[in-house]
Amino acid sequence: MENIEALREEVLAEVEKAADLAALEDIRISALGKKGRITGLMKNLGKMDPDQRREFGQALNAVKDQVASALDMRKGDLENAALEARLTGERIDVTLPSRPSETAGRIHPISQTIDEIVSIFGEMGFALAEGPDIEDDFHNFTALNIPPEHPAREMQDTFYLPEGEDGSRLVLRTHTSPVQIRTMQSKTPPIRIIAPGRTYRSDSDMTHTPMFHQVEGLVIDKKTHMGHLKGCLLEFVKTYFELDDVPVRYRPSFFPFTEPSAEMDIGCSRKGGELKIGAGDDWLEILGCGMVHPRVLAACGLDPEEYQGFAFGMGIERIAMLKYGIPDLRTFFDTDLRWLKHYGFVPLDVPNMVRG
Ligand code: PHE
Repeated sequence: MENIEALREEVLAEVEKAADLAALEDIRISALGKKGRITGLMKNLGKMDPDQRREFGQALNAVKDQVASALDMRKGDLENAALEARLTGERIDVTLPSRPSETAGRIHPISQTIDEIVSIFGEMGFALAEGPDIEDDFHNFTALNIPPEHPAREMQDTFYLPEGEDGSRLVLRTHTSPVQIRTMQSKTPPIRIIAPGRTYRSDSDMTHTPMFHQVEGLVIDKKTHMGHLKGCLLEFVKTYFELDDVPVRYRPSFFPFTEPSAEMDIGCSRKGGELKIGAGDDWLEILGCGMVHPRVLAACGLDPEEYQGFAFGMGIERIAMLKYGIPDLRTFFDTDLRWLKHYGFVPLDVPNMVRG
């Protein structure tokens, strides 16, 4: 009897201390297995007389049951602990940003640059405007103070569509300036728009592709002057190139639709063949601009005595190449996936005023 009691204590203590499921299984086998300690005592029952056997047998069965249920409980506890440990170990932080996938698509640098430009001017209060790629002569030329036979039409090598029944020919717009006209025709000042889009010229070499992108800006109200133009464009180049200060200069130029007209240059250095924007003793032309010509206002039905404002036009590929160090214009339109993977942008990396 004492043997049984001692064995009970011993086995229960072992069960209590079992550190893991494997240790617990060893204990079960050593107590209740075929050659186990409790099983061993059971075998002795046969040699006992009936009274002793009944007493001993009952006690032994009770111990067996107790040990079995202790094993069960401990097993449950250990299983819970193991699960708990796994859950903690394998926990995923669902708030982490997703990793860019190698197979995911990329945003083309042109789209990214347009988004950046729109967000910068949007912050200054400009609205987005759009116009058709196929334009009529009036919007692309005449209303912009470029009458038929005017030599300025030869400044831009135009793609013409086949003649219509009335003898007129539509064109692929040669610049985004027709959006100025469409906006002034349909809205009353104050006007403040930015119009990015595709433009076309019959031109193809190292630095020209037949299709390229421009962004047009237009501000019309009663008081806007050249100072506003300068402040606005300076603010833009600083934000776009992510520089605290950029030297700029305005060179007198000619556009039929602005008077005065200017080309804006930004300061740069080209030492050692490497172009650096923002400092140095060299200049880089980045856009054309000027005060909207009174004739253009009049062509859109606005009284030039009452309204005035400025406009500018900028090549998007050019400023994308400058900011992102893309050396060859033509590669923009080669649709080479390796190029896009290298120069493209991760879709969720949306440009904004804080990160550029
Ligand atoms: N449309 C001109 C060009 O394509 C650019 C420009 C736009 C100049 C607006 C002045 C004002 O070259």
